[in-house]
Amino acid sequence: MGFRKDFLWGGATAANQYEGGCFEGGRGLATSDIITNGSHTVPRRISVKNPDGKIVFVPARGTELEAGCRGYIDPDTYYPSHKAVDFYHHYEEDIALMAEMGFTSFRMSISWTRICPKGTDEINEEGLEFYEKVFRECRKYNIEPVVTLCHFDVPLYLFEEMDGWSDRRVVGWFLTYCRTVFTRYKGLVKYWLTFNEINFLNGAKNLGTHKLDDQTRFQALHHVFVASALAVIEGHKIDPENQIGMMMNYPLVYPDDCHPDSVMKAELENRKHTFFADMQCLGYYPEYKLKEFERNGVVIKQEPGDAEILKEGTVDFISFSYYHTGVVSRNDLELTGGNLVNHGKNKYLQASDWGWQIDAVGLRNVLNRLYYTYHKPVMIVENGLGAADTVEADGSINDDYRIDYLKQHIEQMKIAVDVDGVDLLGYMPWGWIDLVSAGTGEMKKRYGFVYVDMDDLGKGTLKRSRKKSFWWYKQVIASNGEQL
Ligand code: BG6
Repeated sequence: MGFRKDFLWGGATAANQYEGGCFEGGRGLATSDIITNGSHTVPRRISVKNPDGKIVFVPARGTELEAGCRGYIDPDTYYPSHKAVDFYHHYEEDIALMAEMGFTSFRMSISWTRICPKGTDEINEEGLEFYEKVFRECRKYNIEPVVTLCHFDVPLYLFEEMDGWSDRRVVGWFLTYCRTVFTRYKGLVKYWLTFNEINFLNGAKNLGTHKLDDQTRFQALHHVFVASALAVIEGHKIDPENQIGMMMNYPLVYPDDCHPDSVMKAELENRKHTFFADMQCLGYYPEYKLKEFERNGVVIKQEPGDAEILKEGTVDFISFSYYHTGVVSRNDLELTGGNLVNHGKNKYLQASDWGWQIDAVGLRNVLNRLYYTYHKPVMIVENGLGAADTVEADGSINDDYRIDYLKQHIEQMKIAVDVDGVDLLGYMPWGWIDLVSAGTGEMKKRYGFVYVDMDDLGKGTLKRSRKKSFWWYKQVIASNGEQL
């Protein structure tokens, strides 16, 4: 009974929210570097210079950009990715903190443009050296790195010159990047995730495309699927020990009543997201998607051999992020906040201050759905509560609300393992250390066990301090999840 002996306990991060050092070590710029800060009410914006020289700032989500525009960095605007919380210069200190908590895993992402500054075939040795130092530091403490190859950061050059993933050539360049890191970090990294939250990739921000229509999006996604499958095939060839997974967000929705139309609507809403697991675990376009393409006039241009690549390059395991659930109905509903997607309110659930509805039982539900649909091991690589913390006069941070959230979710993971028999590989809550929020660009929305002294405009000492949850999680790990 209980979690497996080699359960991966750890925490998660992403380069564009954590690493900083944006202009150092030969790194090239990524789309994430032209996204401004924002807030709960003001959306983050993307800044570009149009072909006529006009500078525009447009909401980073849901806006189409003019073809031929180029990334623009405004000297008077704050871009959180540039410094983030400076893992680049704090990696030894941070990894020591992880080790102190007893981490056996650490999810991070490699910044593609630190290895390939333009996203093409040119390689930056200094970037390779940086991550080698990071992985060696992890190994020193027996921490298993779990590495995302692309976490919402498309090389800016690809966005400017070839409309990002809509250009087939990007598949080959992505493979160059993967081959380079698989070869260089052989023996140092075993767990890889190809694309973060693949079900949320859209537009300039994370597909590097200028348009948002279905034709553009799904053609670009086809290239992403092929690239991911090729990475799996190549990764296994380079090191048969490699375990290469997919990563999706699962924003589970429930019907608000038992009317068959509401139930069907919920099923179809969930399928929008599990389509991505179908593609990466089963290795082909499911019939319902082909019908949808046909209805909407979407025509995916495939190259000979693509079908075989998708089939051969299915993933070894499924990883996912889970924060909240939502509700849909045949009737109109009042919407609430959510992670890149907004659904209806659930009267039975409490929500975070950002409106994300807290639902630990939903995690058990999702674990079962994924495991018993695809029969592949699952890994939770994001989960957690974004909350504003208060630093008391004595310096302590008493984040009982965070402990409570995580405790409830770990309890449900245990049921999924002990009662349901789900093969769960590990748990890496999001933002084990405070970092920049992807959705709002804020620092105020904190997830960490470790507090970072920095505000929404990047001001602060960057000093790291242990919160109450730090000591709690340490004891959870030491007891392999028995002492909650
Ligand atoms: C996921 C992303 O969407 O949720 C992370 O993979 C992100 O990058 C996390 O940070 C939490 O969202 P937010 O908006 O609170 O940072």
